[in-house]
Amino acid sequence: MSHHDPTATAAPAPDPTRDPAQDPARDLVARDLVMTYGRSGRSSAAGPPALGGVDVTVRAGESVAVMGPSGSGKTTLLHVLAGILRPTGGQVLWRGRDIARMSDRERTVLRRRDFGFVFQQGMLLPELPAIENVALPLMLDGVSRSEASGRAAALFAPLGLAGLEKRRPGELSGGQAQRVAIARALVARPGVVFADEPTGALDQTTSAEVMQHLTRLAAHTGASLVVVTHDENVARWCHGVLRVRDGRIATGTVAAQASPGSAR
Ligand SMILES: Nc1ncnc2c1ncn2[C@@H]1O[C@H](COP(=O)(O)OP(=O)(O)OP(=O)(O)O)[C@@H](O)[C@H]1O
Ligand SMILES: [Mg+2]
Repeated sequence: MSHHDPTATAAPAPDPTRDPAQDPARDLVARDLVMTYGRSGRSSAAGPPALGGVDVTVRAGESVAVMGPSGSGKTTLLHVLAGILRPTGGQVLWRGRDIARMSDRERTVLRRRDFGFVFQQGMLLPELPAIENVALPLMLDGVSRSEASGRAAALFAPLGLAGLEKRRPGELSGGQAQRVAIARALVARPGVVFADEPTGALDQTTSAEVMQHLTRLAAHTGASLVVVTHDENVARWCHGVLRVRDGRIATGTVAAQASPGSAR
């Protein structure tokens, strides 16, 4: 069923789980990204760029791990792809628009509607119960409280969080808090979820659980996933790995990966 006939290029099979990956309009595409920090003009005092001309394609529904030494530009790349940082040069194409050219306001709306985020420490609001933390992005986007709560609640059981809805973040374990952060990242059904070392504060077992939930939920909703990690065991949950070195892509194996999710 999931077998793809390479001769059938003219008429893609109507399999909903494979179709998105074959529609380039739904990919996130970066071209020749350059990022130089702390330079508004052409100061010769600037150091080497944090990104020195990076091309990346994250196909719809695909998960990519970004790996590389400390300071190599992983977080910078993630922030530029996600519209958090505006690059010094290059394009980030998403649904027919260049994110790099958008106004700050447009990028704020885009981040709220199209993208989800998971950080190393969940960045949950400590005074709000877990369920309200998850519902919040929807409410900020104008969804009614009751609908937002309902959609948030529906994510607790699949993430193994049933019964923890009323707990505050300080009353959750690290792994539980990260699963709440995953729910929050996915509640608005984003096209892409960006995660910067989402398991960085967790032990190996908990980190595998978190990655299992993250990749499963992303696959279920059709979201692409970009995960920065130092951990090869975390990277194995993704379809492919981009290796960054000195602000450039050293190797990328996304397209070459034959059996996505082989770690599962
Ligand atoms: N806000 C900033 N201002 C100036 N330079 C920065 C800033 N953020 C990052 N840099 C520099 O850009 C380069 C890439 O940093 P980045 O944070 O992207 O690395 P990283 O690969 O995420 O590292 P780590 O694994 O330690 O998180 C580094 O040389 C860093 O010092
Ligand atoms: Mg980083």
